[in-house]
Amino acid sequence: MVKNSFVLIGFCICVLLLFSCAGTIKGTTATENNLVALLNQQAKKTVEETRVENTMPVLIEAGKQQWTNEKISNWRSGFWPGIQWYLFEATNDEYWKTQARLSTEKLSGLLDKPVYNHDLGFQLYCSYGNAFRLTGNAAYKKILLRAADSLITLYNPVVGTILSWPYRRKNDGWPHHTIIDNMMNLELLFWAAKNGGNKKYYDYAVRHATVTMQNHFRPDYSTYHVLNYDDKTGKAIKGTTHQGLADSSMWARGQAWAIYGFTMAFRETGNREFLQTAINATNVYLARVPEDLVPYWDFDDPTIPNAPRDASAAAIVASALFELAPLSKNEVLEKKYYAVANAMLAALSSKQYLSGDVNHAFLLHSTGNKPAGKDVDVSIIYADYYFLEALLRQKKSKETLK
Ligand code: GLY
Repeated sequence: MVKNSFVLIGFCICVLLLFSCAGTIKGTTATENNLVALLNQQAKKTVEETRVENTMPVLIEAGKQQWTNEKISNWRSGFWPGIQWYLFEATNDEYWKTQARLSTEKLSGLLDKPVYNHDLGFQLYCSYGNAFRLTGNAAYKKILLRAADSLITLYNPVVGTILSWPYRRKNDGWPHHTIIDNMMNLELLFWAAKNGGNKKYYDYAVRHATVTMQNHFRPDYSTYHVLNYDDKTGKAIKGTTHQGLADSSMWARGQAWAIYGFTMAFRETGNREFLQTAINATNVYLARVPEDLVPYWDFDDPTIPNAPRDASAAAIVASALFELAPLSKNEVLEKKYYAVANAMLAALSSKQYLSGDVNHAFLLHSTGNKPAGKDVDVSIIYADYYFLEALLRQKKSKETLK
């Protein structure tokens, strides 16, 4: 208890220190304006490297300057178009609208094949979702509705969740399983139900979130990465991991997806159990995050403080907290979440994490899949996406609070 109080006091001091670097919630600092200008210039370098047909930039290996491009079937393919839409939103520069449109439309072929994993939501909602939001183009809406129709074919009504990795079921004999990341892809279903798609998609998304809430959380509200279910009875069999350190550990990005996903599920439904789940998941994350607010890739790695960081998790959580703050409708929590989210962005904008001249990404030091030895301590495109999204949300929060 005493130890916990010290941790809490230390954490508050560190938030205040970082927060003071980021400026106050009211009033934009020059640093933040410069930051968007800097990211704008940085992203122009990426445009020059991504003209290869049917590929998207996904990561930059340590020691390299340029992006590795992967086929559009890669789960990360929607983030670069999404970044360009956010840059269009931030700058109102037609250049970004043109670039964003070109790279978004590269992804239309994804719907030519039956859905092959839950990531279709990441791929098409971050790209076409932002495209439709900012342009109102009916052709984009059509694609999003088709994407929802495709994603829902993975829904298992006995379990009440979407199957995350059909290929693992087919090739490795896994039972029905759902990963915590899958919460993120419910946003496409909520959107479709409101925008002329099948209204039942709302119910399926609510059921997925409810079943996840019941099974994916340990008593301290840390999450399992993967939950395996009995196909016939729908009962949860076991929580395991795939990208985390151990079945019982708190994988940083998984926890980030939980915070973001349940915040979004509350925004879409008003279900207070989802709100409380987002708050509980945030509590354990904040109680255990290191002083600089950028987590190690897994909170339970015994090699901490020498373990690699995951800046992408920090960016996802910062973005989520800018949304959770006003949604909480609780003055104390609202203040706290804004302060922490601002401090997280200040940490990510520091020399240690901001790429600058090191490479063409926005952020350094993310970790994709450490157990597989893949993408460890690199720049990853989704870290940049959620960082920029968080900066836009930060700007909106300041305008609202003026
Ligand atoms: N599947 C998304 C992730 O690696 O976080």
